[in-house]
Amino acid sequence: MKEEEQQPPVHHLLLHHHHHRQRVAALAGKKFTKHTVCFILLLLLLSYSLGYISAPSHQYPNYSSPHSPSSSSQPTHINIPQSNQKNTSTPATAADNNNNNNNDHYRFTTQCADPVPSELVRQTILDRVFNGTSPYDDFPPEHASPLLRPRRIKGWGSTGAVFENLIRKVQPRTILEVGTFLGASAIHMAELARGLGLETQIVCLDDFRGWPGFRDRFGDIKMVNGDVLLLYQFMQNVVHEKASESVVFVPFSSGSGLEKLCEWGVFGDLIEVDAGHDFHSAWSDINRAYKLLTPGGVIFGHDYFTSADHNGVRRAVDLFARVNRLQIQIYGQHWVIHQYSSSA
Ligand SMILES: C[S@@+](CC[C@H](N)C(=O)[O-])C[C@H]1O[C@@H](n2cnc3c(N)ncnc32)[C@H](O)[C@@H]1O
Repeated sequence: MKEEEQQPPVHHLLLHHHHHRQRVAALAGKKFTKHTVCFILLLLLLSYSLGYISAPSHQYPNYSSPHSPSSSSQPTHINIPQSNQKNTSTPATAADNNNNNNNDHYRFTTQCADPVPSELVRQTILDRVFNGTSPYDDFPPEHASPLLRPRRIKGWGSTGAVFENLIRKVQPRTILEVGTFLGASAIHMAELARGLGLETQIVCLDDFRGWPGFRDRFGDIKMVNGDVLLLYQFMQNVVHEKASESVVFVPFSSGSGLEKLCEWGVFGDLIEVDAGHDFHSAWSDINRAYKLLTPGGVIFGHDYFTSADHNGVRRAVDLFARVNRLQIQIYGQHWVIHQYSSSA
């Protein structure tokens, strides 16, 4: 056969070429589809495991522990879910608070221990705070003695009629005082209780730092290496008034101190709140202290009418009474709330 004869005709060649391209394209299409599917699947799997794709969470914010090691140098953004809390101008009731997880302003949830018997309150404080010894032993220390005045007492409404009225009425075995300063009200209560023949233990909670600038008015209270001797002067006053057997103290901040009293089961039949006078301090102290009332106890405090922090104490007391549906009584500058009073 001649060579030309063996060559297929041109149109055959073209046709063949066309069919070949079609087959190649079809084959390539098949391969492309398979590879694409595999690729997409792989991508999805990878994205899922890296966390780019996940089930949407409406319940929990995307917290990451500040202590967990981060592989990224980029800051982590935390999505806080939008609060659906109520308008605070119409505060929740105590019952609402237990159900409303979002309303942290109203949540003081620590469960207190069972109350220790009143006759063990003093020893509990000595054990927990002072390693079982009395802080009055060998007081005053040599270095502080020449810096203290034999008696330096100053208070504000610290001997008002409300103290005697309440002590007569409640006959408290334990009094908790939040905010003590130089001990004016604590010593007055110790004397009243003694006069009434009561065996009352008074637990004073104060950080004994006063407040920034308090030495502008109390410059005679000395400072040693930046440490103001308010605690020592308070102790000196207590010793001078022969009240050290009935007055014990917890020298810490009101927040942590009240939490600890709750944890240790140290409750009060009568509780005076007279520490920070801004709204937030008073609000937190009152809420924490109220949990430490023995059944039927009374909580009270000073400065209901002062203008400090735009009447911070009054706003805190009013809100507390409203939320818990309790009644407020007023004695001069003092507010008083009986545990079982009801405004309903
Ligand atoms: C007004 S004085 C107490 C006066 C005292 N109740 C009286 O009538 O004699 C307030 C005291 O609260 C204390 N204080 C204020 N904020 C405090 C806090 N967050 N923790 C502990 N003590 C605090 C101060 O150190 C100060 O001694």
